[in-house]
Amino acid sequence: MSTYTVEDPRKVTTRRLAEMKAKGEKIAMLTAYDYSMARLIDEAGMDVILVGDSASNVMAGNATTLPMTLDQMIYHAKSVMKGVERALVVCDLPFGTYQGNSIEALSSAIRIMKESHAEAVKIEGGEEIIESVRRILSAGIPVMGHLGLTPQSINKFGTYAVRAREEAEAEKLIADARLLEEAGCFAIVLEKIPATLAEKVTKALTIPTIGIGAGGGCDGQVLVMHDMLGINKGFSPRFLRRYADLATVIEDAVGNYIKDVKSSDFPNEKEQY
Ligand code: KIV
Repeated sequence: MSTYTVEDPRKVTTRRLAEMKAKGEKIAMLTAYDYSMARLIDEAGMDVILVGDSASNVMAGNATTLPMTLDQMIYHAKSVMKGVERALVVCDLPFGTYQGNSIEALSSAIRIMKESHAEAVKIEGGEEIIESVRRILSAGIPVMGHLGLTPQSINKFGTYAVRAREEAEAEKLIADARLLEEAGCFAIVLEKIPATLAEKVTKALTIPTIGIGAGGGCDGQVLVMHDMLGINKGFSPRFLRRYADLATVIEDAVGNYIKDVKSSDFPNEKEQY
């Protein structure tokens, strides 16, 4: 049973997110990569489900998001879509599928929409990828931006540390956010930037900002599902709040099952035909 009661049961759309910002209602977003978890998260009342390329880390065990392919993102998004009724589902465009040129970006976005039925795409970067953003939007595909720590650029950054602490990078981030808004993005993820900067960007824009490690001044928050459920034991950055310790729950349950099988306690008479 969810501890949260959905006040507005209508399907969440990009338009509804704009209304939420205007009303000062916070937006809750969480990642999901499969049918069963997406169904539970949707039933709990999540506003937005992100099929993130963090699937590369938490589902595939890679060190970065870079190896993720378009086919893999489509597979995850398709599975998530089958479990979701209310939340808006956004799918990441993976590394290498939109940076080359805007035509390639559009065809990648079209594949995601056609084959997975996701309702929007997310794309990392500002001015450098604005042509791709514009072309995708021109086909009627909603685009969510992503600024600050953009994990697909980890090899350029060389670290997952907080971004835009310096004046020049902060100025560029504000300019990029404005550019994404002018182009027609419906929201922007702000990852791991100072809370004061995130608040400034949030106030400067009419579209919602969704923060991760960007403080409470954003219009909404996003976390990676495995991190907030405590499945990912070793990962504990300052911004993360753990809402469960599923690693312990799962280890205990699996340990008990093994014990019961080994001792012939399972199955008992009522558990057989
Ligand atoms: O891929 C992802 O999970 C993301 C979130 C961290 C915003 O992009």
